[in-house]
Amino acid sequence: MKITAFGVRPDERQHFERWTKHTGDDIRQTAELLTPEALALAKGSQGITSFQTVPYAAGIFKAMRQLHIPWLALRNTGVDNVDFAAAEREGIRITNVPAYSPNAIAEFALADMLYLLRQTGLVQRDLHANHYQAATHHIGRELRTSTVGVIGTGRIGRSLIASLNGIGAKVLAFDPHPKTDASLQYESVSFQTLLKHSDIVTLHVPGTPANTHLIDEAALALMKPGSLLINTGRPNLIDTTAVISALQSGQLGGVGIDTFEHEADDLLALDQAGRFNDPQWQTLLAMPNVILSPHIAYYTDTAVRNMVECALQALHDLQDHQASNCEVYPEGM
Ligand code: NAD
Ligand code: COI
Repeated sequence: MKITAFGVRPDERQHFERWTKHTGDDIRQTAELLTPEALALAKGSQGITSFQTVPYAAGIFKAMRQLHIPWLALRNTGVDNVDFAAAEREGIRITNVPAYSPNAIAEFALADMLYLLRQTGLVQRDLHANHYQAATHHIGRELRTSTVGVIGTGRIGRSLIASLNGIGAKVLAFDPHPKTDASLQYESVSFQTLLKHSDIVTLHVPGTPANTHLIDEAALALMKPGSLLINTGRPNLIDTTAVISALQSGQLGGVGIDTFEHEADDLLALDQAGRFNDPQWQTLLAMPNVILSPHIAYYTDTAVRNMVECALQALHDLQDHQASNCEVYPEGM
């Protein structure tokens, strides 16, 4: 099969090469992101695979149709950056990788929780300023004695609950479509109850329009004073302006953000030195009780291998069987 792979990072190359050896596929790899202009590289391909957090806008699907390329296999889970109406109009079918390693993101959320509970940012700040004694005075809290509110009990939420059960934390969970899993221990509660009673609130829901600013000023006001908020879900889930105010007032004791609200715009506007110029990002970066990361919760060796192999398998399934278990349909279909 002739495939063009966009947005390829150096760590993915070994997986594409191993796949090529096993299947005989002809895979053209490029680090370029998928844009209408970059699509020229895919001329003659039967399918495309891509990885990016910036938008898949209408022009991409129009150009794919013009090049007679019907399939786009995303090497990731979230599809909130895809213009599905445009893809459907142009007859383009899209797959994702729904579960390349839910554990990777769950463990990352756990790492953020521990970092914030032990006030690691403050300790590091004091040590870097050569204030050794001051660094010994940031008393921590324990995860085992905390109540963690997990919003979204899908694949990642459930993986996280399993780890929290192992540690012995109390878990509250909210999901309008709860998944039953007898192996997990948690209490299903309403959104409001979860906010009111959790020491840590962690988000594991999709970035649908309905979930935009799920955590807004009103939600923050319901949370326990000094509680922690973790967002490894999607950029639109929290109102960053409200979160910064809550950090400044002490209503929030700390925040972990892997998916920053303006990441797509900021990535497209990186300056020549590669700086991420966003005043809110800079404000958060300067706070020792905030841990930021550049959308890397997924980024483990296990996840990367699965992302490449599952995306390529989906293209084969579409070619060989005209169907893939990983096909994603626009909302409402
Ligand atoms: P999933 O589809 O398995 O589960 C999502 C769950 O959220 C579902 O059970 C759904 O009913 C629930 N839900 C939807 N809206 C809700 C709401 N308002 N309140 C409570 N629950 C709600 O998804 P998943 O694989 O667990 O992924 C969760 C999120 O993590 C997604 O946004 C995904 O894109 C994101 N993600 C982030 C990274 C990263 O690197 N940061 C990597 C992969 C996935
Ligand atoms: C996903 O797989 O949905 C992710 O968030 C990871 C990636 C796009 C950076």
